[in-house]
Amino acid sequence: MSKFRDGRTVNDKGHLEIAGLDTIDLANKYGTPLFIYNISTVRENIKMFKDALKNYPKNSEVSYASKAFSSVAMYQIIEQEDISIDVVSGGELYIAKQAGFPGERINFHGNNKSRSELIDALDYGIGHFIVDNFHELDMLKALTAERKQTAKVLIRVTPGVDADTHKYILTGNVDSKFGFDLESGQAEDAVRMAQEAEYLQLDGLHMHIGSQIFESDSYILAMTQILKYVKEWHTQFGFNLSIFNIGGGFGIQHIPNGEVTSSKNQLEEIGQSLIALFEEYDLPYPELWIEPGRSIVGEAGTTIYDVGSQKVLPDVRHYISVDGGMADNIRPAFYDAEYDAKLANRMNDKPVNTVSIAGKACESGDMLIWDLPLPEIKADDKLAVFNTGDYSFAMASNYNRLTKPAVVFVEDGKDFLAIRRETPEDFMRFENNLPEDFR
Ligand SMILES: Cc1ncc(COP(=O)(O)O)c(C=O)c1O
Repeated sequence: MSKFRDGRTVNDKGHLEIAGLDTIDLANKYGTPLFIYNISTVRENIKMFKDALKNYPKNSEVSYASKAFSSVAMYQIIEQEDISIDVVSGGELYIAKQAGFPGERINFHGNNKSRSELIDALDYGIGHFIVDNFHELDMLKALTAERKQTAKVLIRVTPGVDADTHKYILTGNVDSKFGFDLESGQAEDAVRMAQEAEYLQLDGLHMHIGSQIFESDSYILAMTQILKYVKEWHTQFGFNLSIFNIGGGFGIQHIPNGEVTSSKNQLEEIGQSLIALFEEYDLPYPELWIEPGRSIVGEAGTTIYDVGSQKVLPDVRHYISVDGGMADNIRPAFYDAEYDAKLANRMNDKPVNTVSIAGKACESGDMLIWDLPLPEIKADDKLAVFNTGDYSFAMASNYNRLTKPAVVFVEDGKDFLAIRRETPEDFMRFENNLPEDFR
């Protein structure tokens, strides 16, 4: 048996194994496309973040941004690892409740929370509302006063920093749909409003500058921007920053490009800078909260597809089609995300062709990988696409009425069906026949 990487090995049959399980056996057992999550990787990533925060002099909190991948069982794993979660909708909150996730460790995000979502969250006694805009602030103020129930809040501010990432995953710049702008005074107004509201407990601020950020400078720049205002607000109207939530966005490699990234180093550097900044501004250290998503689940996920048709255009392109694509992983089509893949059933075979992997949806843009070196391929080969644990199943759709894949968790030689595969019959749960008066 040869070592591959990150909990993955190749067995004597030349098959990819994850957590000691043959992925071809898993594909035969559960069908394809199949998402396989290596739960040890999830646990290791969480531990890495906890370790990185260990030396920070005040309390810290890791809150898993569950938009990256949520399921009842994943919330239960997160609970076992004793960290918090972020949800961004009533739907995520519902699944977290089904998982029995403790309310006080749930933080609620979103730029357009509805009144009923706020009520659900208040009913469940969630930890913090990350307030995004005045509409939400007004609603929350009114609801908490009506219910005579105190809600803990953080105000989300946009620090006006352009992080070096794709524009669709950039959120901390001025022209963003998220959060209160600092420069125009909106953030100050929101902080004052929250501070004055009888039933709101304003605990601090939140920022999220974007995703796939590999350096620390953008975080440090954003924190510096915010702290100038914090100092001013502290002097002017006694605002205390007890919690500073610096968001997620820690970058991960979806393809092996030789660069070694370390969210641990990145976070340690950020923590050190935060300490220095608070000393410079002569303010007490706040609690340091982070909310990583992709860096917890991305590398834990592998998708297994069945290979079907091929189209060879000499000197142009060799297309290989698989039984999934943009419906289970929109990231390549949505923001040019890149992936690496190998034949799960012939891991030791040497690449002989450069091929491009096409999805099965009726869209030319449904391409999963361009220019991938692979061995000679036959129908029914199984393609393993690596590091698909973040924002793939979570963004899955039923476009072309494709059914969502199954999700299997593996750990220490055990497998467990976390989400069963959809069937076309599932669609009929939402469908009605045309009534008589429409005929
Ligand atoms: C507010 C907020 N926090 C955290 C995250 C998680 O980001 P990532 O998965 O890049 O860590 C996101 C991602 O969109 C976000 O919008």
